[in-house]
Amino acid sequence: MATNPRFISAPEIERRSNEELIQRAWDFFQMTQRRRTIRDFSDRTVPREVIEHCIRAAGTAPSGANLQPWHFVAVNDPKVKHEIRVAAEAEEKEFYEHRAPKAWLDALGTDWQKPFLEIAPWLIAVFAQPFRILPDGTRSPTYYPLESGGIATGLFITALHSCGLAALTPTHRARCDFSIEFSGGRRMRNRLCCSSSAIPLKTHPFLISPANRSKRSARL
Ligand SMILES: Cc1cc2nc3c(=O)[nH]c(=O)nc-3n(C[C@H](O)[C@H](O)[C@H](O)COP(=O)(O)O)c2cc1C
Repeated sequence: MATNPRFISAPEIERRSNEELIQRAWDFFQMTQRRRTIRDFSDRTVPREVIEHCIRAAGTAPSGANLQPWHFVAVNDPKVKHEIRVAAEAEEKEFYEHRAPKAWLDALGTDWQKPFLEIAPWLIAVFAQPFRILPDGTRSPTYYPLESGGIATGLFITALHSCGLAALTPTHRARCDFSIEFSGGRRMRNRLCCSSSAIPLKTHPFLISPANRSKRSARL
């Protein structure tokens, strides 16, 4: 086969027997089936390193043309968390009181109040990145940013769960003026930032989730 400089050798993957495959698949399922969406979070601090490692895990996700068109923002600043709560609750109040069909409300069993957005030490906002900026400053599209971001988010939630933390995937997208700088570069990995600065593209996250310990008294 002719060598193509665009391809590199795949990393060595352990060869396993069928029995081992079955066992490992079962063990993984056992681990994932204990994951639950949590709405009551402990206020106990979680080291930043834990969040960083889980975002690194998310960053290993496959993506359209390997452009990794997502951006994870980890927030632990109480002021920013407060702003997110206010914006999210305004949006949720409007939804629950005016937009939600009754059948949906009956199925939900939740309301517009989101105190956990302030209680939880970490909030993670995930953005889909619809374009990238090339080194010469021009914009270039990414491919399947929502699908790719969704897969990365699934990995992130699983990583959190595997280390004992819980998440909540809500539908509200707080209309906060988050700042995210979409820097160029094919190999760009997720960057963490916790503040608002220049906004090359104003956009809203498709997810804002707490990533923390569940409260002992949490109910599902
Ligand atoms: C796209 C999406 C939107 C969701 N929106 C909300 C939400 O707005 N509020 C909420 O409390 N839970 C929300 N959830 C969580 C679901 O209610 C929860 O995943 C489902 O009931 C299954 O429970 P489990 O995650 O514990 O298995 C959402 C989940 C997904 C995937």
